[in-house]
Amino acid sequence: MKRTLGTCYYPEHWDEEIWAEDARRMTELGLTWVRIGEFAWSRLEPSPGDLQLDWLDRAIDVLNDAGLSVVLGTPTATPPRWMLDKHPDMIALDADGKPRGFGSRRHYCFSHAGFRAESQRITRIIAERFGHKVAAWQTDNEYGCHDTVISYSDAARVAFQGWLQARYGTVDALNAAWGNVFWSMDYDRFDQIGLPNLTVTEPNPAHAQAFRRFSSDQVVAFNREQVDEIRTHSTAPISHNYMGRVTDFDHFEVGKDLEIATWDSYPLGFLEDRVGASPEHQRAFARQGDPDFQAFHHDLYRAVGRGRWWVMEQQPGPVNWAPHNPAPLPGMVRLWTWEALAHGAEAVCYFRWRQAPFAQEQLHSGLLRPDSVEAPAMVEARQVASEIQDAPDVSIPRADVGLIFDYDADWAWSVQPHGAELSYFGLVLDHYRALRRAGLNVDILSPDTQNFSGYKIVLAPGLMHLTDELRTALAQTEAHVVYGPRTGARDADFKMPIPLPPAIAGLDVTVARLESLRPDSPTPLAGGGAVQGYLEELETTATPMFTREDGQPIVVTDGNRTYNGGWLDDIGMDRLVAQFCETAGVATRTLPNGIRVRRTETEEFWFNHCAEAVETEIGTLAPASVTRRAI
Ligand code: GAL
Repeated sequence: MKRTLGTCYYPEHWDEEIWAEDARRMTELGLTWVRIGEFAWSRLEPSPGDLQLDWLDRAIDVLNDAGLSVVLGTPTATPPRWMLDKHPDMIALDADGKPRGFGSRRHYCFSHAGFRAESQRITRIIAERFGHKVAAWQTDNEYGCHDTVISYSDAARVAFQGWLQARYGTVDALNAAWGNVFWSMDYDRFDQIGLPNLTVTEPNPAHAQAFRRFSSDQVVAFNREQVDEIRTHSTAPISHNYMGRVTDFDHFEVGKDLEIATWDSYPLGFLEDRVGASPEHQRAFARQGDPDFQAFHHDLYRAVGRGRWWVMEQQPGPVNWAPHNPAPLPGMVRLWTWEALAHGAEAVCYFRWRQAPFAQEQLHSGLLRPDSVEAPAMVEARQVASEIQDAPDVSIPRADVGLIFDYDADWAWSVQPHGAELSYFGLVLDHYRALRRAGLNVDILSPDTQNFSGYKIVLAPGLMHLTDELRTALAQTEAHVVYGPRTGARDADFKMPIPLPPAIAGLDVTVARLESLRPDSPTPLAGGGAVQGYLEELETTATPMFTREDGQPIVVTDGNRTYNGGWLDDIGMDRLVAQFCETAGVATRTLPNGIRVRRTETEEFWFNHCAEAVETEIGTLAPASVTRRAI
């Protein structure tokens, strides 16, 4: 499959007279794809049942006639104002019980049956009408963006009670599983169980985790209803555009119903508002973005899409929504595009075609300025469009190293973090960063993985609940497995298991006690590096690999099983990666700060994310540059 480029376009924002010229310019630029329609509901159905689909039909024809392939979005992220008159209680409620207002987007509760029926209805209508002329679909837009998965509405409460009844059968079973004897929280009936908000102090973590799982299942069900409607009328592949570091629902579960996973990549906005980096790092990479955050998501969505994935929205210049919105350094739009392609993306689409001179995103750049003059990103998009002409096809080699990412663990860490700064996502990203500093390709793996064959190393950090299936699969693999911290710390219902965790076959180690550490008080490791944030005290007869300065073991190993009882800092992580790679026979490099390498079957890509030239083993790499070498 050829690598391709595209853009996001809003025909409803512009006079119909300019559509054909826009389409011509897109094709001339070398674009293949154009995504449209995902926010157009008020123009497709201005009042209930008054369908105005002809303009979209004409827009699709204009784009198709110019040679572009259309990705059509279902418009359900922006229900029109009349929908609220029809379904006044369809709005999600926040944790304080306050309704979220109309006037932006994503103003719906996933549990509201009336809105679910509306979502199916509009999906059916556009799938019926356009199913034969679009090349791909997108369901909704960025599920979960703007904190929209969790809703404390009446509809959610009633649906949650049904979900609990289906899971536990009897209320006595639920009381026992959750330990409701504690603080006299026993229930008599399922309909007494509320949502875990507005409690005096913290709710039972079993209750909170069950609600997180239920909320995720509601997104999966909502998406599946749209997929079922589309499939009835169209054979085009179906995608959804996930958003960076939005982890409130299980992307793997939604992905099971899709052909293609896509995600929306805004490197500079992310570094400002969600990477969680130090101010020094933010300053150094302010115009380039974090060197690992995008790559992590590329590898994640390759897994979610079972190999098939795109960047549906690529930042082309300054955005409007982060605390600060700098312009990228010249070269970065090309670098970001090639980075996605090097990680196996089939397509990278720039958001958006033309900057909008009205409404919320006036300060968000596009490939064109509002006056249709080319913006700086256009030059770089054109360069990539010409470079991919003779580039090899999409290729996805298997990495030596697999890193498990589990949404359920992310919710569990947020339900019971044990320390203020501790997040599962942050822990996994720290592991990923260390692997990349060592020059390695990484495959992110779903916690449903049953067969790890082909991997030399599997990392399983932070999996607070290990399902029996995953426990067995990890026990059986011949790969070197690195567990911990917090492996198997809770059972399926958030109880601490006895025998105490991690209870790993073939590795004698028990977590006897654990503590969280103040950010200003790390625990040094003998030999360099430190444990930060979270530390376990291990009882073990296994061989200590790393110890505290007083000799207490922190990382222990036996054969090809290692347990890590601490959240290691960068120096500690680099030492750990070097050790298990050596044991497993995986060659590493030590890359300079900001340099990253990715190998495909035919090429090695060197990315310089720094604002300065950097000396490397392959020579001097220019700032904000990509170097491609045949292998
Ligand atoms: C994304 C969203 C787009 C647009 C963009 C701006 O999160 O999907 O519709 O709002 O952000 O950066």
